[in-house]
Amino acid sequence: MKNYALITGSADRIGKAVAIHLAKQGYNLVLHYNSSKEKAQKVKDDIESGYSGLKVELLQINFLKENDFNQIFQDLKKKKITIEILVNCASDFIKSNFKEEGSELLDKEMTINFKIPYLLTKAFAKVYGKGNIINFVDTKVTKNSTVHLDYILSKKLLKDFTRISAVELAPDIRVNGIGPGLILPPEGEDESYLMNLAQNIPLKTIGNLEEILKAVQFILDSKFFTGQILYIDGGEHLV
Ligand SMILES: NC(=O)c1ccc[n+]([C@@H]2O[C@H](COP(=O)([O-])OP(=O)(O)OC[C@H]3O[C@@H](n4cnc5c(N)ncnc54)[C@H](OP(=O)(O)O)[C@@H]3O)[C@@H](O)[C@H]2O)c1
Repeated sequence: MKNYALITGSADRIGKAVAIHLAKQGYNLVLHYNSSKEKAQKVKDDIESGYSGLKVELLQINFLKENDFNQIFQDLKKKKITIEILVNCASDFIKSNFKEEGSELLDKEMTINFKIPYLLTKAFAKVYGKGNIINFVDTKVTKNSTVHLDYILSKKLLKDFTRISAVELAPDIRVNGIGPGLILPPEGEDESYLMNLAQNIPLKTIGNLEEILKAVQFILDSKFFTGQILYIDGGEHLV
C-alpha cells in the first residue's frame, strides 16, 4: 500500500482526473475541495468502490481564508496520513488587463494561484520532508501578451517558485510543474472554442486529460528529474 497524495481542487476537471489516476496507481488520497462538496464526495465514493482498500479523505478549505497548513498537515499526520505527493492544481482563472483599476483581483489571483502552493510547499517540506510536488502552471507563463494579466503574473511566480523549491528542497523532495495548453475549455465554452484557438499553435490540435496524466506519471517515475516545467500544449509555449 502506497502513502497518500494530496490534490488541491480535485472535485472536478484536471484535479479529479489526477486523483483518479493516482488511485489507479495505488495511492490513498486526500481530496481537497472548496465549494464543490457533492462532486468531491462522488469522487471519493467512486474511488472507494472502484479501488477496494484505498483510503480517501476529504479536505474542505477556502484558500481565501487564513489557513495554518503546518497545523493541517500535523493533524493529518496524527491520523497516520503520510502525504508523499502534493499536487497544486486548484486555481482561479479570470480575465483582466491594464484598464482595470485597483489590486483586489491581483490579491485574489496571487493568493489562490501562487501563495497557497507556496505555503503548502513549505508546510509539506516541514511536516513530511520527503516526496514529490507537482505544480500546475500554464503554457501562457511563457508569454508577455495576455488577456489574463493577474492570473498570468501569479502563474509566472509559481513557475519560478517551482525551480527555486526544486533546488532548496533537493534531494528529498522533487518539485516539477506541468504547463497545460488547450486541454479543457473554460466554463461556458465548448470544444469548438479550443479548436479555433488551436489554429494558432504548432500542432494545430487540442490536448486532453490523458496527455496531462502521462506527464504526471512521467514526473513521478523519473527519479532524476526535478525543477522542470513540462508543457503539454501542442508547442504553444514556442510561439
Ligand atoms: N483547463 C485547462 O485547459 C488548463 C489550461 C492551462 C492551465 N491549467 C491549469 O491546470 C490546473 C487545473 O485546471 P482546471 O481547469 O481543472 O482548474 P479549475 O477548474 O479552474 O479549478 C480547479 C479548482 O480550484 C478550486 N478553487 C478555486 N478557488 C478556490 C478557493 N478560493 N479555495 C480553494 N479552492 C479553490 C475549485 O474548487 P471547488 O470547485 O471545490 O470550489 C476548482 O474546482 C489549474 O492550475 C489551471 O491553471 C488548466
